[in-house]
Parts: sequence; C-alpha cells; structure tokens
Amino acid sequence: MKEFSKVAMVAAFLSTAVSAGALHAQTAEVLHWWTSGGEQAALGEVRKAFEAQGGTWVDTPIAGGGNARAAAVNRMLGGDPAAVFQFSIGQQLRELADQGLLANVDQIATEEHWDDKLPPLIVKAAKYDGEYIAAPINIHGENWMFYNKEAFEKAGVDVPKTWPEFMTAAKKLQDAGIIPIGLGGQPWQERIMFNSVLLGVGGRDFYAKLYSTLDDDLLASDTMREVFETFAKLKPFVDESSPGRNWNEATNMVIKGDAAVQFMGDWAKGEIIAAGVEPGTTVGCSLAPAKDTAYIMTVDAFAFSAMDGQDPTPAQAKMAHVMLEPDVQIAFNKKKGSIPARLDVPSDSFDACAQLAIKTLQDEKTHLVSTGLFGVPSAVSGAIDDSISNFWNSADMSAAEGQEQFRQAISYAK
Ligand code: GAL
Repeated sequence: MKEFSKVAMVAAFLSTAVSAGALHAQTAEVLHWWTSGGEQAALGEVRKAFEAQGGTWVDTPIAGGGNARAAAVNRMLGGDPAAVFQFSIGQQLRELADQGLLANVDQIATEEHWDDKLPPLIVKAAKYDGEYIAAPINIHGENWMFYNKEAFEKAGVDVPKTWPEFMTAAKKLQDAGIIPIGLGGQPWQERIMFNSVLLGVGGRDFYAKLYSTLDDDLLASDTMREVFETFAKLKPFVDESSPGRNWNEATNMVIKGDAAVQFMGDWAKGEIIAAGVEPGTTVGCSLAPAKDTAYIMTVDAFAFSAMDGQDPTPAQAKMAHVMLEPDVQIAFNKKKGSIPARLDVPSDSFDACAQLAIKTLQDEKTHLVSTGLFGVPSAVSGAIDDSISNFWNSADMSAAEGQEQFRQAISYAK
C-alpha cells in the first residue's frame, strides 16, 4: 500500500474516532414515561432544541411512571445508568441522591442563576445538600376537572363548585345517558381524584397539615371520615370498564363526550391540545370542586445518573441547560399542558386554563404538593395509593373501614 494512502487511512480513522468521541460526548440517553400523544409532542420540543445545539438524543420511552422510575433506578444500581431520566422533584428524588446515584447540575444552575428564576418551593425541592440534582421543567396541577361542555348542556348542568353540587350534576348526567366520570382505574389515578375530594371537603389547610405531618389524629378525624364518605359517593358514576384504563384514554372519553368529566392533572390538557381542541372551548377546565382555592402541584424534572462521580458529563450539562431555556420552556409547556417552572417566561401565549393556573399560583397560600412524588417519602406515597385503591375497588368496605385502613397504612409506612 502506497505511503500516502496509508496516511490517508490513518487520518480518516482518527477523524472518525475524534468525531465519534465528540458525538459520544454530546450523546445522552433519555429514559422517560412520556408515551402519550401530548407527552411525545411536548418532549419533542426539548429533543429538537438539544439536537439543534449539537446533542445526540437516545430515546428510551417506558410506559407508566412507576415502570420508568423502577427501570431508571435498576439501571443505575446495575451499573448501566441512563444518563438522563425523568422523575419529579421532591422527597423521592432526594432518596436517590441520598444513595449517591445522582450527578448534580449545580454549576449550570449557578451560572444561569436558577435560584432567582424558579419559585422558592421548586428551588428547595430540586436540591440535595444545597446543590441542584435535577432540571425542573414545568409545574403541573393535579386538582383539575376537565369537562365536556356539550354533555353538561345535554344534562342541563352547570360547572359544579362544590362536591354536593357535583353529586347532583352527576346524577343528572347519568340520567341523560352520559358516563359522569371518565376514570382510569389505576391506583395513582384513583389517588388523584381522592386528593381532589380531600382538598375540596377538608380545605387547603387540612390537606397541607395532613400530608406534612401524617398526624394520626387528623387521619382519624371526622373531616377524614367525611372525605371517605364523599369519595365513596363517586363510585356509581364511573363505568364498569374503568379498571386498568390508561389516563389518556379517559381524557379521550371526555374529548368525545362519552364521559362528562375527568379529575386529572393538567397533562390531560396536552391530550386535548394534541387532539386539536383549544382548551376552554368544547372541553372546559375548572379546578375540582372545593371550598378553598388551591393548587396541588407536581413538578416534572429530569435527573442525571452519576456516570463519573457527581460531576455531570458534557451531554448532561447541556441537557440541563436546554430544559430551562425560555424558548424551550414555552414550546414544551404549551404542548405538555403545564406551565413553565421559570417565573420569568412570558405566558401571554398560553391557553385559558394555564392562565388560571398562573393566576392561582400568585397567591402562595394556594401552593400544595402532590403525594405522588413530591410531598411525602416513597413508602408513604405507596401506602396512600394502595389504601385508597383498596377502598375504591372494594364493594363492601364502609367509609369508616376505608378511613381506618388508610390511617393504618400511613402509620406503618411513615
Ligand atoms: C405524572 C407526570 C405527568 C404525566 C403523568 C401521566 O407523574 O408528572 O407529566 O406524565 O405522570 O403520565
């Protein structure tokens, strides 16, 4: 082989190796559970921005939040971590940091002054030992009621503002041949509806005190009994095909008018938008019936597996930067159904429901946290979901028995 062609070959090999190395340095595997239409559309905005800035995105979608979170943790424990994984900020993410499983993105956060751009509640929950361990990307609210306006008109009902009003409306909807509540019969969905009843019946101070203290007397209180009695009254308003249904299928029932309402987080709005419906038109949005105005928040975030100690790789640092960019915050959240995590992002282009969320959150007294991943330890979160689901799916458990098994489950888990 001529000397020249050998040199050419070596040069070609080296340039490939270097570009592969460069490619690898900007390559991030992203493990997440955003598999519905709206979720995919929203995440696509982040991917587009990451790739436009030289990143290579390796997509690892796993349906079901619980499945995806378990996969992310198992991969880390098994020594084959996904560089970036979806979680939500709060107590459960801090449990992973406690085990040394996470890299931190504090350098990026400090350079970009995240402390000044995020709500204090999010700043606190996204940190571990004073350093950012996640990139918070939005604020979702769980205590929403999405409703089909035509179904309400057909049954001659107005938007219910209290749970007693809802019961009256639900009976009229049922008599009109409409399934009153479109529900996905899975523990986390049943818990979301339960917590809207708890907030609505007990009030925001009761909700905040109960879940921040897990106090036995509150768990055994008359107020808690009334919550279980009210929750039990919803059972006849759900169709028999509810068990196992995915949340976005229930959303689709409301979009089509097969069901009148869905009590769900506003990621349901992402499906409504993906279906080509402007939220607030044929499908309306209202906070779930309650005597207090409040917002049960869950904050989606992406965390970063410790690939080489606690320092992020260049790709992880780039991902954290991209997720908090104002343009990405707008493009992602408008499709996700949530509102930006950043306070300094113009929101005038957001839909009417998002505007209600932003207005509500201006009063800090409305700030409540989800028991899903945010506000309680994972063992307690699991106990809450399981005991509520046991009660919801039991044909003969009384409200008193439901309350007592809820109290016991939490007492053992805390
Ligand atoms: C939640 C998450 C939402 C949405 C929902 C249903 O945990 O915060 O963004 O993905 O799960 O998948």
